[in-house]
Amino acid sequence: MDRKKKLVIICLIIIFIGVSSAYYFSGSNKTTYNNRQVIGTVSLPAPQLTGNLSVEAAIENRRSVRHYSNESVTLDNVSQILWSAQGITNTQYQLRAAPSAGQVYPLEVYVIAGPNVSGLKEGVYQYEPSNNTLEMFMNGDLRGDLSTIADGQPWVKQAPLDILITGNDQKMMDKYPDKDLSIRFVDLEAGHAGENIYLQAESLGLVTVSLGSFDSNQLSQKFELPSNETPLYIFPIGHPQ
Ligand SMILES: Cc1cc2nc3c(=O)[nH]c(=O)nc-3n(C[C@H](O)[C@H](O)[C@H](O)COP(=O)(O)O)c2cc1C
Repeated sequence: MDRKKKLVIICLIIIFIGVSSAYYFSGSNKTTYNNRQVIGTVSLPAPQLTGNLSVEAAIENRRSVRHYSNESVTLDNVSQILWSAQGITNTQYQLRAAPSAGQVYPLEVYVIAGPNVSGLKEGVYQYEPSNNTLEMFMNGDLRGDLSTIADGQPWVKQAPLDILITGNDQKMMDKYPDKDLSIRFVDLEAGHAGENIYLQAESLGLVTVSLGSFDSNQLSQKFELPSNETPLYIFPIGHPQ
Protein backbone atom coordinates (compact mmCIF):
# COMPACT_ATOMS: atom_id res chain seq x y z
CA MET A 1 0.00 0.00 0.00
CA ASP A 2 1.40 3.39 -0.93
CA ARG A 3 1.82 6.24 1.59
CA LYS A 4 -1.15 8.20 0.26
CA LYS A 5 -3.57 5.28 0.73
CA LYS A 6 -2.22 4.62 4.25
CA LEU A 7 -2.79 8.26 5.15
CA VAL A 8 -6.40 8.16 3.87
CA ILE A 9 -7.13 5.01 5.94
CA ILE A 10 -5.61 6.56 9.10
CA CYS A 11 -7.69 9.73 8.57
CA LEU A 12 -10.88 7.64 8.16
CA ILE A 13 -10.12 5.74 11.40
CA ILE A 14 -9.57 9.02 13.30
CA ILE A 15 -12.85 10.46 11.94
CA PHE A 16 -14.72 7.27 12.94
CA ILE A 17 -13.35 7.36 16.51
CA GLY A 18 -14.19 11.09 16.80
CA VAL A 19 -17.78 10.67 15.58
CA SER A 20 -18.50 7.65 17.81
CA SER A 21 -17.17 9.35 20.96
CA ALA A 22 -19.14 12.52 20.18
CA TYR A 23 -22.26 10.35 19.91
CA TYR A 24 -21.46 8.52 23.15
CA PHE A 25 -20.98 11.71 25.16
CA SER A 26 -23.81 13.64 23.51
CA GLY A 27 -26.37 12.44 26.05
CA SER A 28 -27.98 9.95 23.66
CA ASN A 29 -27.35 7.32 26.31
CA LYS A 30 -29.75 8.35 29.06
CA THR A 31 -27.81 6.87 31.94
CA THR A 32 -24.49 8.45 30.96
CA TYR A 33 -23.71 11.54 32.98
CA ASN A 34 -21.35 13.12 30.44
CA ASN A 35 -17.89 12.79 31.97
CA ARG A 36 -19.24 12.96 35.49
CA GLN A 37 -17.71 10.53 38.00
CA VAL A 38 -19.56 9.19 41.05
CA ILE A 39 -17.19 9.91 43.96
CA GLY A 40 -19.26 8.48 46.79
CA THR A 41 -22.59 6.85 47.61
CA VAL A 42 -24.74 7.57 50.67
CA SER A 43 -27.50 5.18 51.73
CA LEU A 44 -30.55 7.12 52.83
CA PRO A 45 -32.71 6.22 55.83
CA ALA A 46 -36.00 4.57 54.88
CA PRO A 47 -38.82 7.11 54.51
CA GLN A 48 -41.50 7.34 57.20
CA LEU A 49 -44.99 6.61 55.96
CA THR A 50 -46.83 8.39 58.77
CA GLY A 51 -46.57 11.98 59.98
CA ASN A 52 -47.99 14.43 62.50
CA LEU A 53 -49.78 16.81 60.16
CA SER A 54 -52.89 16.28 58.07
CA VAL A 55 -52.69 16.95 54.33
CA GLU A 56 -55.30 19.68 54.87
CA ALA A 57 -53.21 21.43 57.55
CA ALA A 58 -50.07 21.15 55.40
CA ILE A 59 -51.90 22.76 52.47
CA GLU A 60 -53.32 25.50 54.64
CA ASN A 61 -50.05 26.29 56.46
CA ARG A 62 -47.71 26.03 53.44
CA ARG A 63 -45.96 29.31 52.61
CA SER A 64 -42.87 30.20 50.62
CA VAL A 65 -40.26 31.04 53.25
CA ARG A 66 -36.92 32.69 52.41
CA HIS A 67 -35.20 32.96 55.79
CA TYR A 68 -33.78 30.04 57.75
CA SER A 69 -32.36 29.40 61.23
CA ASN A 70 -28.91 27.89 61.87
CA GLU A 71 -30.43 24.55 62.89
CA SER A 72 -29.06 21.58 60.93
CA VAL A 73 -31.22 19.57 58.61
CA THR A 74 -30.90 15.83 59.26
CA LEU A 75 -30.30 13.05 56.76
CA ASP A 76 -33.72 11.67 57.79
CA ASN A 77 -35.25 14.98 56.68
CA VAL A 78 -33.33 14.95 53.39
CA SER A 79 -34.42 11.38 52.69
CA GLN A 80 -38.04 12.22 53.43
CA ILE A 81 -38.04 15.28 51.17
CA LEU A 82 -36.45 13.32 48.30
CA TRP A 83 -38.93 10.51 48.77
CA SER A 84 -41.84 12.96 48.58
CA ALA A 85 -40.48 14.31 45.29
CA GLN A 86 -39.55 11.11 43.46
CA GLY A 87 -39.46 8.17 45.87
CA ILE A 88 -40.68 4.74 44.80
CA THR A 89 -44.12 4.23 46.33
CA ASN A 90 -45.04 1.03 44.48
CA THR A 91 -42.21 -1.45 44.13
CA GLN A 92 -44.15 -3.87 41.91
CA TYR A 93 -44.48 -1.34 39.07
CA GLN A 94 -41.74 1.09 40.19
CA LEU A 95 -44.31 3.90 40.51
CA ARG A 96 -43.19 7.11 42.20
CA ALA A 97 -44.55 9.67 44.66
CA ALA A 98 -45.48 12.17 41.94
CA PRO A 99 -47.61 11.25 38.90
CA SER A 100 -45.91 10.89 35.52
CA ALA A 101 -47.46 10.96 32.02
CA GLY A 102 -47.11 7.45 30.61
CA GLN A 103 -45.06 6.42 33.67
CA VAL A 104 -42.01 7.83 31.90
CA TYR A 105 -40.45 9.49 34.99
CA PRO A 106 -38.30 12.09 33.23
CA LEU A 107 -37.29 13.99 36.37
CA GLU A 108 -33.94 13.86 38.17
CA VAL A 109 -33.47 15.23 41.67
CA TYR A 110 -30.21 16.66 43.05
CA VAL A 111 -29.07 17.82 46.48
CA ILE A 112 -26.65 20.72 46.85
CA ALA A 113 -25.53 20.42 50.47
CA GLY A 114 -23.69 22.91 52.63
CA PRO A 115 -21.97 22.15 55.97
CA ASN A 116 -25.24 22.24 57.93
CA VAL A 117 -26.71 18.92 56.85
CA SER A 118 -25.95 16.22 59.41
CA GLY A 119 -24.79 12.95 57.87
CA LEU A 120 -23.89 14.50 54.51
CA LYS A 121 -20.61 16.01 53.36
CA GLU A 122 -20.71 19.32 51.53
CA GLY A 123 -21.23 18.53 47.87
CA VAL A 124 -23.58 17.84 45.01
CA TYR A 125 -25.50 14.58 44.92
CA GLN A 126 -27.97 12.85 42.63
CA TYR A 127 -30.92 11.01 44.11
CA GLU A 128 -31.29 7.42 42.94
CA PRO A 129 -34.89 6.42 43.80
CA SER A 130 -34.51 2.74 42.87
CA ASN A 131 -32.13 2.03 45.76
CA ASN A 132 -32.78 5.10 47.94
CA THR A 133 -29.24 6.44 47.73
CA LEU A 134 -27.47 9.69 46.97
CA GLU A 135 -24.59 9.58 44.53
CA MET A 136 -22.03 12.30 45.14
CA PHE A 137 -20.38 13.74 42.04
CA MET A 138 -19.04 17.10 43.21
CA ASN A 139 -17.17 17.95 46.39
CA GLY A 140 -17.53 21.17 48.37
CA ASP A 141 -20.14 23.78 49.17
CA LEU A 142 -21.61 25.05 45.88
CA ARG A 143 -24.62 26.89 47.33
CA GLY A 144 -22.92 30.24 46.68
CA ASP A 145 -22.46 29.39 42.98
CA LEU A 146 -26.07 28.24 42.79
CA SER A 147 -27.25 31.49 44.42
CA THR A 148 -25.27 33.57 41.90
CA ILE A 149 -26.76 31.54 39.03
CA ALA A 150 -30.24 32.08 40.56
CA ASP A 151 -30.07 35.86 40.06
CA GLY A 152 -28.23 36.26 43.37
CA GLN A 153 -31.23 35.16 45.42
CA PRO A 154 -29.61 34.95 48.88
CA TRP A 155 -31.88 32.26 50.36
CA VAL A 156 -30.26 29.75 48.00
CA LYS A 157 -26.93 30.05 49.84
CA GLN A 158 -28.47 30.62 53.28
CA ALA A 159 -30.52 27.39 53.40
CA PRO A 160 -28.59 24.33 54.65
CA LEU A 161 -29.33 22.61 51.35
CA ASP A 162 -30.98 23.12 48.01
CA ILE A 163 -32.92 20.61 45.98
CA LEU A 164 -32.65 20.87 42.21
CA ILE A 165 -35.15 19.22 39.87
CA THR A 166 -34.23 18.68 36.23
CA GLY A 167 -36.32 17.24 33.40
CA ASN A 168 -35.34 15.05 30.48
CA ASP A 169 -37.57 16.14 27.58
CA GLN A 170 -36.05 13.57 25.21
CA LYS A 171 -37.02 10.73 27.55
CA MET A 172 -40.64 11.94 27.37
CA MET A 173 -40.40 12.40 23.58
CA ASP A 174 -39.29 8.79 23.22
CA LYS A 175 -42.86 7.96 24.28
CA TYR A 176 -44.68 11.10 23.05
CA PRO A 177 -42.89 12.37 19.91
CA ASP A 178 -44.82 15.68 19.91
CA LYS A 179 -42.16 18.00 21.33
CA ASP A 180 -44.48 20.69 22.75
CA LEU A 181 -46.65 18.06 24.41
CA SER A 182 -43.62 16.32 25.92
CA ILE A 183 -42.10 19.52 27.27
CA ARG A 184 -45.48 20.40 28.79
CA PHE A 185 -45.73 16.96 30.41
CA VAL A 186 -42.24 17.26 31.93
CA ASP A 187 -42.87 20.78 33.26
CA LEU A 188 -46.22 19.74 34.76
CA GLU A 189 -44.57 16.77 36.44
CA ALA A 190 -41.95 19.02 38.04
CA GLY A 191 -44.84 21.03 39.50
CA HIS A 192 -46.27 17.88 41.09
CA ALA A 193 -42.91 16.93 42.61
CA GLY A 194 -42.42 20.52 43.76
CA GLU A 195 -45.73 20.70 45.58
CA ASN A 196 -44.92 17.41 47.30
CA ILE A 197 -41.65 18.98 48.51
CA TYR A 198 -43.53 21.99 49.90
CA LEU A 199 -46.07 19.82 51.76
CA GLN A 200 -43.51 17.31 53.02
CA ALA A 201 -41.33 20.16 54.32
CA GLU A 202 -44.34 21.62 56.12
CA SER A 203 -45.08 18.26 57.73
CA LEU A 204 -41.46 17.97 58.95
CA GLY A 205 -41.44 21.49 60.44
CA LEU A 206 -39.16 22.67 57.61
CA VAL A 207 -39.71 25.44 55.10
CA THR A 208 -38.89 26.06 51.46
CA VAL A 209 -39.53 28.29 48.46
CA SER A 210 -39.82 27.22 44.83
CA LEU A 211 -37.39 29.04 42.53
CA GLY A 212 -37.88 29.28 38.81
CA SER A 213 -35.57 32.25 38.20
CA PHE A 214 -32.06 31.15 37.26
CA ASP A 215 -29.74 30.96 34.28
CA SER A 216 -30.37 27.52 32.87
CA ASN A 217 -27.19 27.33 30.77
CA GLN A 218 -24.90 28.47 33.57
CA LEU A 219 -26.54 26.01 35.95
CA SER A 220 -26.11 23.09 33.55
CA GLN A 221 -22.47 23.99 33.01
CA LYS A 222 -21.52 24.58 36.65
CA PHE A 223 -23.25 21.45 37.90
CA GLU A 224 -22.10 19.27 35.00
CA LEU A 225 -25.64 18.26 34.10
CA PRO A 226 -26.09 15.73 31.29
CA SER A 227 -26.92 17.47 28.03
CA ASN A 228 -30.37 15.85 27.90
CA GLU A 229 -31.47 17.39 31.23
CA THR A 230 -33.01 20.84 31.67
CA PRO A 231 -32.93 22.48 35.10
CA LEU A 232 -36.51 23.28 36.12
CA TYR A 233 -36.82 24.11 39.79
CA ILE A 234 -34.72 24.90 42.89
CA PHE A 235 -35.94 24.45 46.47
CA PRO A 236 -33.83 25.82 49.36
CA ILE A 237 -34.68 23.75 52.46
CA GLY A 238 -34.22 24.78 56.11
CA HIS A 239 -35.81 25.40 59.48
CA PRO A 240 -37.83 28.61 59.79
CA GLN A 241 -36.09 31.49 61.57
C1 LIG B 1 -43.06 28.70 38.84
C2 LIG B 1 -42.71 29.48 40.09
C3 LIG B 1 -41.51 30.16 40.12
C4 LIG B 1 -41.14 30.86 41.28
N1 LIG B 1 -39.92 31.46 41.31
C5 LIG B 1 -39.53 32.09 42.45
C6 LIG B 1 -38.22 32.65 42.53
O1 LIG B 1 -37.41 32.56 41.60
N2 LIG B 1 -37.87 33.25 43.70
C7 LIG B 1 -38.72 33.34 44.77
O2 LIG B 1 -38.34 33.90 45.78
N3 LIG B 1 -39.97 32.81 44.71
C8 LIG B 1 -40.39 32.20 43.58
N4 LIG B 1 -41.63 31.59 43.54
C9 LIG B 1 -42.49 31.60 44.74
C10 LIG B 1 -43.63 32.63 44.66
O3 LIG B 1 -43.08 33.92 44.80
C11 LIG B 1 -44.65 32.34 45.78
O4 LIG B 1 -45.23 31.07 45.56
C12 LIG B 1 -45.74 33.39 45.82
O5 LIG B 1 -45.22 34.61 46.33
C13 LIG B 1 -46.94 32.98 46.67
O6 LIG B 1 -46.54 32.75 48.02
P1 LIG B 1 -46.77 31.35 48.74
O7 LIG B 1 -45.99 30.31 48.01
O8 LIG B 1 -46.28 31.55 50.15
O9 LIG B 1 -48.25 31.03 48.73
C14 LIG B 1 -42.02 30.91 42.39
C15 LIG B 1 -43.24 30.21 42.33
C16 LIG B 1 -43.57 29.50 41.20
C17 LIG B 1 -44.87 28.73 41.18
